Amino acid sequence: MPRSLTQHPYTLLARFYDRLTPYAPAMNRHARGKILGRILARARSACDLGCGTGATALDFARRGLKVLAVDFSPTMCRLTREKAGRAHLPVRVLRGDMRRFRLPERVDLVTCEFSSLNHVRRNDLGGVLRSVARALPPGGWFYFDVNTAKAFEEELPRLKEKVETSDFVVFLSGSYNRRRRQARVDIDWFVRAGRLWRRRQEQIPHGWWTDTEIRRALGRAGFGRIRSWDGPEVRPAKMKSRPGHDTYYLAQKRRG
Ligand SMILES: C[S@@+](CC[C@H](N)C(=O)[O-])C[C@H]1O[C@@H](n2cnc3c(N)ncnc32)[C@H](O)[C@@H]1O
Repeated sequence: MPRSLTQHPYTLLARFYDRLTPYAPAMNRHARGKILGRILARARSACDLGCGTGATALDFARRGLKVLAVDFSPTMCRLTREKAGRAHLPVRVLRGDMRRFRLPERVDLVTCEFSSLNHVRRNDLGGVLRSVARALPPGGWFYFDVNTAKAFEEELPRLKEKVETSDFVVFLSGSYNRRRRQARVDIDWFVRAGRLWRRRQEQIPHGWWTDTEIRRALGRAGFGRIRSWDGPEVRPAKMKSRPGHDTYYLAQKRRG
């Protein structure tokens, strides 16, 4: 792929994210409702990690929580700030890398939804979990969901999708290499610029871990009471989620 055409991940995808994934906020809300009900009711503060365009952060702020939102993409951060501003909701947005972020103060709950964690490389899982643990007090909670190897193996080689709107056309395709443990989504954009269409490409690499690897890494980072759910158990039934493709985790930072 010519370098000049390639964008940083989550540049154009950030700009058009809400139009490509309109189902995500309701799906996330549904799973949170099932898994986090009592924890959310007691929490006073939360940080949404990989916050995207801010739907979850705004939900938390509407509940009266003190909210921080972290994302690596400057466009995602800007969109979250703008959304919070329009809704007159107090959300503090920090541009940060989940592998090494630091919050100005600890929060009761960290969330990382819609497989944001899969965006880091395999070896970076420990860094993410240590940073999350640092952001929590003893007894604080980490809630996240990940795509599994099965999802990438079954979905990515078949991914051939075209989305056409009046101001952009996008082609999505994917690749998966089990031996190298590499998975990638390739996004080919044609964005209207006046009477012309500008072509841009983004590549989104994905990492993944087995359940054992995730539990072991959580334990090493200081988490206990680890529970998990399969996607179809916690996602809206109408989404027809496939068994074994997404796993939701809830873990508590150990007290001692
Ligand atoms: C699939 S989107 C999910 C966004 C949001 N959580 C949602 O549920 O719609 C993944 C998000 O992770 C962010 N991201 C990717 N790598 C990151 C990193 N290393 N640190 C922080 N955020 C990252 C992307 O910019 C993007 O906003």
